[in-house]
Amino acid sequence: MGLKITNLSLNLDEGGYKIIVGYGIGSVLGQSMGKGGNKVAVITHPRIGRLYGNEVMESLSKAGFAPIVFQFPEGEQNKTLAHAGKIYDFLIQNRFERSSTLLALGGGVVGDMTGFVAATFLRGISYVQCPTTVVAQVDAAIGGKTGVDHPKGKNLIGAFHQPSLVFVDPSKLATLPEREYVAGLAEIVKYGVIYDAALFAFMEARAEAILKRDKESLLHCIKRSIEIKAEVVEKDEKESGLRKILNYGHTFGHAIETVTHYKKYKHGEAVSIGMMAAAEMAYRLGTGSLEVVNRQRALLQGLGLPTRFPKLALADLLRVLESDKKVVGGKVYFVLPEKIGSVSVQKIERGPIRKILRDICLN
Ligand SMILES: NC(=O)c1ccc[n+]([C@@H]2O[C@H](COP(=O)([O-])OP(=O)(O)OC[C@H]3O[C@@H](n4cnc5c(N)ncnc54)[C@H](O)[C@@H]3O)[C@@H](O)[C@H]2O)c1
Ligand SMILES: [Zn+2]
Repeated sequence: MGLKITNLSLNLDEGGYKIIVGYGIGSVLGQSMGKGGNKVAVITHPRIGRLYGNEVMESLSKAGFAPIVFQFPEGEQNKTLAHAGKIYDFLIQNRFERSSTLLALGGGVVGDMTGFVAATFLRGISYVQCPTTVVAQVDAAIGGKTGVDHPKGKNLIGAFHQPSLVFVDPSKLATLPEREYVAGLAEIVKYGVIYDAALFAFMEARAEAILKRDKESLLHCIKRSIEIKAEVVEKDEKESGLRKILNYGHTFGHAIETVTHYKKYKHGEAVSIGMMAAAEMAYRLGTGSLEVVNRQRALLQGLGLPTRFPKLALADLLRVLESDKKVVGGKVYFVLPEKIGSVSVQKIERGPIRKILRDICLN
């Protein structure tokens, strides 16, 4: 039985890398990493290590690498400098060199942490992304943003450092808890709204199949999302312009996550509500349409994602929105949809934001 493998790529001025996508391709990971010989540290969580560690280690050994494993506890609360420090210790104990490689096996927490350590250890070594969540496969593993959290905020410490390879096997998503899986789908909807009406329509038509993790539907969504992310990053690696559109739904989303202390919502759930707020805002400002609001709501709901703005104190939300990185001169930058498949970045004054938020919050 042959494996069906798709080779995508991300091309940057200083070179680029391959993004390999296919169901059940785990056994060819090692050989995809080039000629063996170097040390590889697989960074993962115990849960993921138990599920996929053996397969990864076997594939690496077979290809001539000398893999070792470092595990740290799962959860956003562990994406810290303290855990990065433990990985540095581990790499030093095991005499890792400039030619050694790290391999991130896990979701965005593992990916961001591994990328950050790779960016900083010995002033930068190579790393491979093997994402195992929807969020990581369609978003976090691609594009080279790495980092850890600080008690004062998420991703405050980080670096741009591109991986040398991204290896995406959607069969790994079979073991993902339902809520985690569904939350990740919000990011795929995001790609549809910001960039690709056909992807959006595909999701509308296949919502039920996608929810059942139907292979063919899921593979299409993942591949297309990766292509879009790669294309956007190629055009604007360091987020000076176009890359901002990837923040669609995230300005409100982050505000909701912060006000609810990252406890009530998964990131994707907050983004889902955030996309509804942005679509409403565009409609009320006259730059968007009711069609976007309605189609987006129907799709998100069909996928089991929340769309209603929670009852939160307006003052808290505004305080967080206005302290966001995206505030410039008292105006907040929002990514607003004009129609399905196309967005623009708009500077919005405090007044209209307050008014619209008040309306949405009361709904
Ligand atoms: N660098 C970027 O561009 C970027 C983009 C988006 C998100 N992120 C970051 O990604 C993180 C969120 O990532 P996430 O949503 O993947 O969360 P996560 O990494 O915390 O993973 C979610 C949970 O699923 C478990 N898990 C992972 N894969 C599994 C599998 N195949 N089977 C069973 N369980 C599995 C994990 O152990 C964890 O408990 C955040 O820290 C966010 O800041 C980064
Ligand atoms: Zn996101």
